[in-house]
Amino acid sequence: MSQRMQQGQPMIVMSEDSQRVKDKDAQDYNISAARAVAESVKSTLGPKGMDKMLVDSMGSVTITNDGVTILQEMDIDNPTAEMIIEVAETQEDEAGDGTTTAVSIAGELLKNAEDLLEQDIHPTAIIKGFHMASEQAREEINDIAVDVDTEDEDLLRSVAETSMTGKGTEVNKEHLANLIVEAVRQVTVEDAEGNNVVDLEFLNIETQTGRGVSESDLLEGGIIDKDPVHDNMPTSAEDADILLLNEPIEVEETDIDTEVSVTDPDQLQQFLDREEEQLKEKVQQIADLDADVVFCQKGIDDLAQHYLAKEGILAVRRAKKSDLEFLSEVVNAAIVSDLGSASAADLGHGDVLRDEEDELFYVEGEDAHGVTLLLRGSTDHVVDELERGVNDALDVVAQTVSDGRALAGGGAIEVELASRLRDYADSVSGREQLAVEAFADSLELVPRVLAENAGLDSIDTLVDLRAAHDDGDVEAGLNVFTGDIEDTYDAGVVEPAHAKEQAVTSAAEAANLVLKIDDIISAGDLSTDKGDDEGGAPGAGGMGGMGGGMGGMM
Ligand SMILES: Nc1ncnc2c1ncn2[C@@H]1O[C@H](COP(=O)(O)OP(=O)(O)OP(=O)(O)O)[C@@H](O)[C@H]1O
Ligand SMILES: [Mg+2]
Repeated sequence: MSQRMQQGQPMIVMSEDSQRVKDKDAQDYNISAARAVAESVKSTLGPKGMDKMLVDSMGSVTITNDGVTILQEMDIDNPTAEMIIEVAETQEDEAGDGTTTAVSIAGELLKNAEDLLEQDIHPTAIIKGFHMASEQAREEINDIAVDVDTEDEDLLRSVAETSMTGKGTEVNKEHLANLIVEAVRQVTVEDAEGNNVVDLEFLNIETQTGRGVSESDLLEGGIIDKDPVHDNMPTSAEDADILLLNEPIEVEETDIDTEVSVTDPDQLQQFLDREEEQLKEKVQQIADLDADVVFCQKGIDDLAQHYLAKEGILAVRRAKKSDLEFLSEVVNAAIVSDLGSASAADLGHGDVLRDEEDELFYVEGEDAHGVTLLLRGSTDHVVDELERGVNDALDVVAQTVSDGRALAGGGAIEVELASRLRDYADSVSGREQLAVEAFADSLELVPRVLAENAGLDSIDTLVDLRAAHDDGDVEAGLNVFTGDIEDTYDAGVVEPAHAKEQAVTSAAEAANLVLKIDDIISAGDLSTDKGDDEGGAPGAGGMGGMGGGMGGMM
């Protein structure tokens, strides 16, 4: 649409390439794009959900079950789809788990909104109804949630295991749940008001390939997965003064390219001597600080390695930045970026012990705290997915410890919420009532998909679940392994309340954001489809803009 004068309307001047979609077409376009995103992660939901293998344009492979990781790796190039991906990202930031749930609910809300739009219900009524329902749902979650004893390790282990089921962590989830609960306990402190504060900053995750997941372990302090730079150095140091250095122990290079021309061998020797002096001086500075151990983030020159060894100092080069930052907490040291101005007060104190078998150092602080969760797995892919699963579980355990509220999983909370929202809908007048009911239906997507992914009949399951909840069975959920309806809370399928609140809220907000749009003005071509348009809406094939041939996953 270039320059066009519409009768009686102001003229809008747009460039040749720009495109404009309005009203119903705009809604169709947006809804189908958003739904396609939600659809793409649904099959990963729950213990029986499958994984996805994502291959990026460089050919590197990620195998995962984690909603937010899938969506981020999919490299989707569609503005509406990106709004839905943001839901997953917010959920990840705020709750750490439940990203698939949040995105799936957002998609279902839009699907149901589409039906309401078909019935000529105005988008603002739908938006208002969804908003009311989401506020009410938060209240109901708070009412349904069980106040738990945050010292109850069995319960915390259940929370961790629920979050890990269906992920790469599954087979070793008991062992991992123990480690996770212990790790969170170690970094939990009570604030002045007696509330639990979990500081995951004091918890570091390290990964190692080559051994089984069951050999994962929780260690006091931090680890540095490196070798000493010189064979003649001590390999461990107890009660050591530790220097964390973020400056190379190398000859300083000038920023500008300089050319040094020497005319006789003496000059060359002088030049080399000066370099040697510089290195000696740096090592002397370290020795003067009385450091027994240096963990350096940058390089260490061969000659400097030799001098350090002569001084009896244990030195490690190219340590990871994140490891140094963690160690600064563990041994209570500053990270020094200029040796010249460093003082003994910048050094930390602790024990540095060598594990020859694993070729790494354990670093334990004296009074400062910090723990490391060492995750092991046979290959990189295993370890990566393990780390994602463990991260989710750490977050939900931490939340449960600080928030103290938990819910029955396996669809129990969603069905109970739906039933309460339907009661609430009766008190809502006007067309908003229909939107509240649609919201209730949307929540039931969770048990339906859990059943579907487990190869069970989703309709039968939902009917049974509703019946149980009508009988007052608030915690009735689906056992995906047997297909039975049971009290999932008692069976140990437990989720933190905060994550569910967040999922419901952000799904509703995203759906409302999409519904509010009635005019899309794009500077470029909206329909970048590659011919597999299934949305039917004008330009809905914009999902074809996904990289890596992901179109087939929709
Ligand atoms: N043993 C179980 N039986 C039944 N349902 C379970 C069981 N364990 C977990 N669930 C359910 O599985 C759902 C969570 O699935 P999943 O972890 O795949 O998705 P998510 O947490 O929404 O997203 P992600 O973990 O990808 O961020 C929750 O509804 C939870 O109650
Ligand atoms: Mg999960």
